[in-house]
Amino acid sequence: MARVLTGIQSSGRPHLGNLLGAILPAIQLTENEKQESLLFIADLHSFTTIKDPEVRKENTKSIAAAWLACGLDTSKSIFYRQSKIPEVCELTWFLNCVTPYPMLANAHSFKDKADRLSDVNAGLFDYPVLMAADIILYDANIVPVGKDQRQHIEMTRDIAKTFNHQFGEVFVIPEARIDDEVMTIPGTDGQKMSKSYGNIIDVFLPEKQLKKNVMSILTDSTPMEEPKDPDVCNVYNIYKTVANDEQKIEMRNNYRGGNYGYGHAKTALFELILDKFKEERRMFNHFMENEPAIEQHLQEGEEKARAIAHKVLSRVKNTIGF
Ligand code: ADP
Ligand code: TRP
Repeated sequence: MARVLTGIQSSGRPHLGNLLGAILPAIQLTENEKQESLLFIADLHSFTTIKDPEVRKENTKSIAAAWLACGLDTSKSIFYRQSKIPEVCELTWFLNCVTPYPMLANAHSFKDKADRLSDVNAGLFDYPVLMAADIILYDANIVPVGKDQRQHIEMTRDIAKTFNHQFGEVFVIPEARIDDEVMTIPGTDGQKMSKSYGNIIDVFLPEKQLKKNVMSILTDSTPMEEPKDPDVCNVYNIYKTVANDEQKIEMRNNYRGGNYGYGHAKTALFELILDKFKEERRMFNHFMENEPAIEQHLQEGEEKARAIAHKVLSRVKNTIGF
């Protein structure tokens, strides 16, 4: 049975882009009974940047709550925190010792920061090796990721192949699954929605704050009476990622007809988000207020993940003579 695995960093609260671009499609994948799926929160990776323990714990909790609220069924997939499986750190060391330095020096994630080397910690440099360990520790076959992770999966494959070449067939060579169709959800300023740009729609905020969040979407100053072009408007471009065809047509007509202001469009978007994610919002609050429930789901997953990790790591250690 093919094993599908993916990780999500716990670097902030989950937003509309994460939901539509990653969480909901990945949950759909777990519904496929012909595959075994592993989903984990990459909290060790987030330690490369987030050092505040409370912030990291809160992020991990909200990411877990979001997955569970969106319908992740933990009886159908293995859901766990990376840090609870210490085997991954041990494997990272073994992989480090077969990974050529220039490969890591070439990683985009490192090169982007190479002009400020004093800000780069060794963990950030080694990030791709920990990611390779995340994947091959579970004999994963398929790794669904966003386009930005393509190079990391290539490096994982190279590291696993180098190891196999030297020691025999120890590791399964994984493949990336990159869905070019997945929309990039725009943020409140029209750029890609991202925690790092401070332009997110935080779907799980309490109603009043969510409204304020939606109202903060940038628009131009066309007066209310005048007709507007929906395709160049941030509000419509976010609305269309959530709306059905009928709702999209109605809003397009409203824009073109005039006497329809950005305030109207924002209110419609706010109401649509409330309606569309009603159940998810309710369940998110339920889990956020019920930490033991989150803990239980994760601990069950961690037990299963650890059993696989232990088996694979033993295979590795036997092979290399430890
Ligand atoms: P961020 O850019 O907010 O830090 P991450 O890099 O943690 O988000 O991404 C987590 C997952 O969510 C990835 O699979 C990524 O492809 C997806 N994702 C993030 N932002 C968007 C977006 N604006 N549109 C679609 N998918 C997104
Ligand atoms: N680096 C990935 C990201 O930023 C997260 C991640 C860590 C991951 N380990 C992984 C994704 C293993 C897939 C498989 O999105």
